[in-house]
Amino acid sequence: MSRLAEFVRGLSKAELHLHLEGSLEPELLFQLASRNKYPLAWSSVEALRAAYEFSSLQSFLALYYAGCEVLRTEQDFYDMTHAYLQRAHADGVIRTEVFIGPQSFTTRGVSIATVMDGVIGAIDNASRTFGISVGLIVSAQRHRTEADALDLLDQVRPWSHRILAIGMGGAEVGNPPSKFANFYRASKAAGFRTTIHAGEEGPAAYVREAVELLGVDRIDHGIACMDDPDLVHLLADRGIPLTVCPVSNLRLKVVKSLEVHPLARMLQAGLLVTVNSDDPAYFGAYASDNLLACRDALDLSTQDLVILSRNGFNAAFLSTDARAASLKRLDDYVRTFDWSE
Ligand code: ADE
Ligand code: ZN
Repeated sequence: MSRLAEFVRGLSKAELHLHLEGSLEPELLFQLASRNKYPLAWSSVEALRAAYEFSSLQSFLALYYAGCEVLRTEQDFYDMTHAYLQRAHADGVIRTEVFIGPQSFTTRGVSIATVMDGVIGAIDNASRTFGISVGLIVSAQRHRTEADALDLLDQVRPWSHRILAIGMGGAEVGNPPSKFANFYRASKAAGFRTTIHAGEEGPAAYVREAVELLGVDRIDHGIACMDDPDLVHLLADRGIPLTVCPVSNLRLKVVKSLEVHPLARMLQAGLLVTVNSDDPAYFGAYASDNLLACRDALDLSTQDLVILSRNGFNAAFLSTDARAASLKRLDDYVRTFDWSE
């Protein structure tokens, strides 16, 4: 490993855009399928991994939802969450705010308690054993109706004290943020912070709707905002964070190459932009891999990588004290890192 790669892996990082279902590595996916006697369409782990070639968000979502089929018991949700948290911890992630999308499971008979108790059990265990700080974001699916999203909100109420925020993912184009105005109003009224995927495949207008109509605290992806200079000013002035996922954008053909990814321009425009892995098992890149890939493709400086990591803590839903402690840990590491070894 190069000294720079070692620096990035040891750098304290916050990951703010991570779907637990997208962290399910093919090896574990096969184990769960076998445990649940669920027949898979792929003959081997290698064949499944080879299928991870995507032409669009939709082509990815088809495989992602197929992968969700193997998750059936509380232990399955525990094992998936534990595996991700262990890997994130080893990758220098000290704070992670993870999405779970219960509708993939509850619509085929898995109880909401199975999903929530499995995920939360693993979060509690990893917090104790690794010291990693974890927040849970319940995510609704935008191809479903607003009534479905409101129903999900009702179903998770018993776990309200364990839920950090409400988010939304899924097929973006044709499902604008305005479709979910009542859902976001209800989520905020229930005391939750809010995020939404917007401006990934969809246009800048969706990002504007998310900010002006829904009033979300954070935008997931949001890269299309660069097509609307007034919107960029609005996001920068208000300090609204954008959780960007560069390797995801590359693998889903949202950008033609990482060399033309808008990340560097977003930084220069003064946006509170962070780097995240989205669905690392499907895209083959965890948090540090994303930072290192961007560094190479966009010729980012070490200082840029530090700024991106600091942004992660500034964009996280953390208390003032926890934010300050995380930033201090990061700054101490940067100041004392020995580049000569
Ligand atoms: N669900 C998981 N990953 C997603 C992405 N990149 N966009 C929208 N929904 C998702
Ligand atoms: Zn996502």
